[in-house]
Amino acid sequence: MNSTKFFFVIIRLLIFLVIPPSSISVALDAITPNQPLRYDDVLLSTTKIFALGFFSPGNSQNRYIGVWYNNIPIQTIVWIANRDNPITPIAGTGLLAIHGDHGGLVIYGKDQNTPLWSANVTVSSPNNSVIAKLLDTGNLVLLENNGSSPRVLWQGFDYPSDTLLPLMKIGLNRRSGLNRRLRSRKSQDDPGSGNFSYEIDPTGFPQLMLFKGQTKWFRGGTWTGQRFSGVPEFTINSVRSFVNNKDEMYMMFTVPNGSVFTRGVLDESGIVKRFVWRDQENNWIEVSSSPSEWCDYYGQCGPNGNCDPYSNYNFSCLCLPGFEPKFTQDWYLRDGLGGCLRKLGVARAKVPDSSKARVNMSLSLKGCEQECMKNCSCMAYARADERGGGMGCVTWYGDLMDTRTFSNVGQDLYVRVDAVTLGRQRKNMFFMEDRTDLDDQSKINSELQFFDQTTVAAATDNFSVANKLGKGGFGSVYKGVLHNGKEIAVKRLSKNSGQGIEEFKNEVVIIAKLQHRNLVKIIGCCVEDEEKMLIYEYVPNKSLDSFIFGMSSYFFFL
Ligand SMILES: *[C@@H]1O[C@H](CO)[C@@H](O)[C@H](O)[C@H]1NC(C)=O
Ligand SMILES: *[C@@H]1O[C@H](CO)[C@@H](O)[C@H](O)[C@H]1NC(C)=O
Ligand SMILES: *[C@@H]1O[C@H](CO)[C@@H](O)[C@H](O)[C@H]1NC(C)=O
Ligand SMILES: *[C@@H]1O[C@H](CO)[C@@H](O)[C@H](O)[C@H]1NC(C)=O
Ligand SMILES: *[C@@H]1O[C@H](CO)[C@@H](O)[C@H](O)[C@H]1NC(C)=O
Ligand SMILES: *[C@@H]1O[C@H](CO)[C@@H](O)[C@H](O)[C@H]1NC(C)=O
Ligand SMILES: *[C@@H]1O[C@H](CO)[C@@H](O)[C@H](O)[C@H]1NC(C)=O
Ligand SMILES: *[C@@H]1O[C@H](CO)[C@@H](O)[C@H](O)[C@H]1NC(C)=O
Ligand SMILES: *[C@@H]1O[C@H](CO)[C@@H](O)[C@H](O)[C@H]1NC(C)=O
Ligand SMILES: *[C@@H]1O[C@H](CO)[C@@H](O)[C@H](O)[C@H]1NC(C)=O
Repeated sequence: MNSTKFFFVIIRLLIFLVIPPSSISVALDAITPNQPLRYDDVLLSTTKIFALGFFSPGNSQNRYIGVWYNNIPIQTIVWIANRDNPITPIAGTGLLAIHGDHGGLVIYGKDQNTPLWSANVTVSSPNNSVIAKLLDTGNLVLLENNGSSPRVLWQGFDYPSDTLLPLMKIGLNRRSGLNRRLRSRKSQDDPGSGNFSYEIDPTGFPQLMLFKGQTKWFRGGTWTGQRFSGVPEFTINSVRSFVNNKDEMYMMFTVPNGSVFTRGVLDESGIVKRFVWRDQENNWIEVSSSPSEWCDYYGQCGPNGNCDPYSNYNFSCLCLPGFEPKFTQDWYLRDGLGGCLRKLGVARAKVPDSSKARVNMSLSLKGCEQECMKNCSCMAYARADERGGGMGCVTWYGDLMDTRTFSNVGQDLYVRVDAVTLGRQRKNMFFMEDRTDLDDQSKINSELQFFDQTTVAAATDNFSVANKLGKGGFGSVYKGVLHNGKEIAVKRLSKNSGQGIEEFKNEVVIIAKLQHRNLVKIIGCCVEDEEKMLIYEYVPNKSLDSFIFGMSSYFFFL
């Protein structure tokens, strides 16, 4: 034997001593009473799409039993059995087994007598065989077989972790009372139950709701028959379905072609994201995320406020048409939480929180209006289901919470207006009217606003001398800034102009129609008690004199 060969043999021996042989771990296709899953084994699904086994997340040494995609190179955990009961890091421990006495699934750590975690089941006869299998959907099922037909005793899909897979249901099993929800993990290193949950809130008219603890955080909204009102992406086209019958109420999504890997995740910061696996990029691509903008967060604009991210202003809170901010100064400081007081109608809306709403699927839109009119505390109504021209009726009672506008989707919401408001503001509102009227009116509405005196006072710092731009024949002009950031010029007309309120408003509407691009734009008026005010867009470097102070043909009516 020459020296080179001798050296070579020693190296091989060292390698053998340092690296334990890997052949002791087993890939199982079922767990049986005689074949538990040991700390190094994996359980593979029927066609090996998913694997179940032990893992340690991030920098943690704790061990968990979870399900991941068998063929995706980045280990992606989609379900965890013992998220709150980890196996502490002692080498060689960990066992998932079928319990000899009750037939349920159990996880053992160091202590082989007391399970860390167990799936509670009732086997109908001790003579029946029980096995656990992993399905190609990623669902771990425990099956009881009496020799003729196997029965599902328990399934992992009934206890989701933070991930929603195709065919997994979120929602309520009315017979067992089980309400399946996603719950965020604590951190990347700790998959234990975190503070956010995403679930179907079954109270009132059922809706998808994201909670932070007990607090409403983001409303996925109600199912309109075609989509969830708060998540434009959650449509029937993205194969989402919502089922509500006497046995259950749930949301689910499906993938028609099993070759696409997609999953939804409620992450530890309370964001629901959907990912799709792309082979080309060898990575998960995020395709949607909610809440994604300020208006998505629950109740940003308070009761009766509407959050409109497409508003031209830099503050998205607007009161529903006909309402005014409850705390004008707060709105001025861009805090909308106080909400609005008083009434009207808004189009393309995410309808308000329906947990205190009532639904009647057999009522027409007209019947819905009558239903709402009958009860003084009914504040608004809408169609329950948008399909086939719309059907069903939802009615809301009390304050309207968490309404928002979308650019191109949304439902028509009909908001009740009391007779006093109707009398004062008939000119610029649409009230439980047809859609055609609504379009016309909202156009005028968007061009001409009726301001509350307190709003104008807040904008001009109570008509302070510092904000006074000048005085003309018909009154003084003040500079102001509205709560939404828009700069205005306010012409406060002399109290003894002698014109009646209705005539004044009619005239304002006429001027609004005569708007010309070379003229300072009128945006609204304010009439209250003896006060009459005209509100213009503020144009810094334009000579205001000729348009506002002076007698020009523009003000022919005054
Ligand atoms: C099984 O029941 C025990 C005792 O009621 C409970 O602590 C445990 O959380 C249950 N396990 C599961 C997975 O629901
Ligand atoms: C279980 O099997 C035993 C022996 O075959 C039989 O005597 C017993 O009745 C069976 N029990 C049930 C609940 O079927
Ligand atoms: C097996 O269980 C099914 C229901 O799970 C039942 O319909 C069937 O009669 C049972 N068969 C036997 C042989 O007990
Ligand atoms: C959950 O909320 C509690 C109470 O607000 C807080 O102490 C804890 O840190 C939160 N947990 C996580 C993971 O954010
Ligand atoms: C599923 O996708 C594969 C690959 O993109 C394609 O070849 C197959 O025809 C698709 N099957 C169906 C039913 O759409
Ligand atoms: C729904 O409306 C119909 C028609 O008015 C009425 O007969 C029925 O009692 C209502 N259902 C409920 C649950 O209020
Ligand atoms: C009106 O609706 C409220 C809220 O649902 C309810 O409590 C009240 O009894 C109703 N009043 C009438 C007269 O139906
Ligand atoms: C605004 O001015 C009027 C008259 O000068 C005064 O009565 C009122 O209290 C002032 N309001 C505020 C909020 O300062
Ligand atoms: C919004 O508008 C106000 C008033 O014009 C201005 O002071 C503020 O900086 C603006 N904020 C943003 C984020 O543009
Ligand atoms: C407005 O006038 C001021 C001072 O005369 C000047 O500095 C500014 O550039 C002007 N702004 C515009 C938009 O013309």
